[in-house]
Amino acid sequence: MALHWGHAALVLGLLGLGLYMVDLPKGAGRSSAIAWHKSFGILALLLVAARIAWRRLHPPPEDARLDGTQRRLADAGHRLLCLLLVLTPLAGYLSSSFTKYPMRAFGLSIPKAGWPDEAINAFFNGAHAVLAWSLAALIAAHIAAVVLHALQGRTVLHRMLPGHRPD
Ligand code: HEM
Ligand code: HEM
Repeated sequence: MALHWGHAALVLGLLGLGLYMVDLPKGAGRSSAIAWHKSFGILALLLVAARIAWRRLHPPPEDARLDGTQRRLADAGHRLLCLLLVLTPLAGYLSSSFTKYPMRAFGLSIPKAGWPDEAINAFFNGAHAVLAWSLAALIAAHIAAVVLHALQGRTVLHRMLPGHRPD
């Protein structure tokens, strides 16, 4: 639960910061926003790895109220979310690897996976934007699914709230 909410807040913040910073004029403000975006983006990549590892060791308790199709749909949606949560920051990291700028997260130097190359940078930059907006769409669907379950009298949100124990 802590990983879900911590990571969710981080990813929503990164989407907002990404949207805001790309429209900033070149200068110190834009560079600083990008530096924070990279730092928190790398943290998001580490956190999703921790989430996936945790989920492998602790599978979610089954929800007996869901039929087979609903369970498979939820599982597929969560897997796709996890895939985009890995690919989005990875594309951001690769895009930043093919620039002349050093790679840093919270002031710490991090190895780069490339060399300065404008074409490769542009490719991963484009991929990062497409992946980030696909992720935003899937998060919207994820939240809509939580609301839909509630409207159908089958609340699922409590399963992700502190104090809940598997039934
Ligand atoms: C207001 C926002 C959100 C609500 C109400 C919400 C709610 C939930 C609920 C109820 C579950 C069900 C778990 C279960 O019953 O097994 C869940 C799972 C999940 N959520 Fe969210 N969520 C929100 C935002 C997000 C965001 C922003 C992300 C992406 C970073 C995300 C990623 C996931 C993933 C990957 C799972 C499935 C894996 C797991 O159980 O950890 N959620 N969420
Ligand atoms: C889950 C993690 C991340 C999310 C949700 C995210 C989201 C975004 C979004 C929405 C944009 C704006 C795209 C556009 O409309 O053009 C963006 C741009 C960008 N992101 Fe990320 N990002 C993440 C991780 C990262 C990481 C790890 C890095 C690098 C280490 C990174 C580097 C960049 C760069 C360099 C830009 C483009 C700035 C420009 O066009 O000048 N991002 N990101």
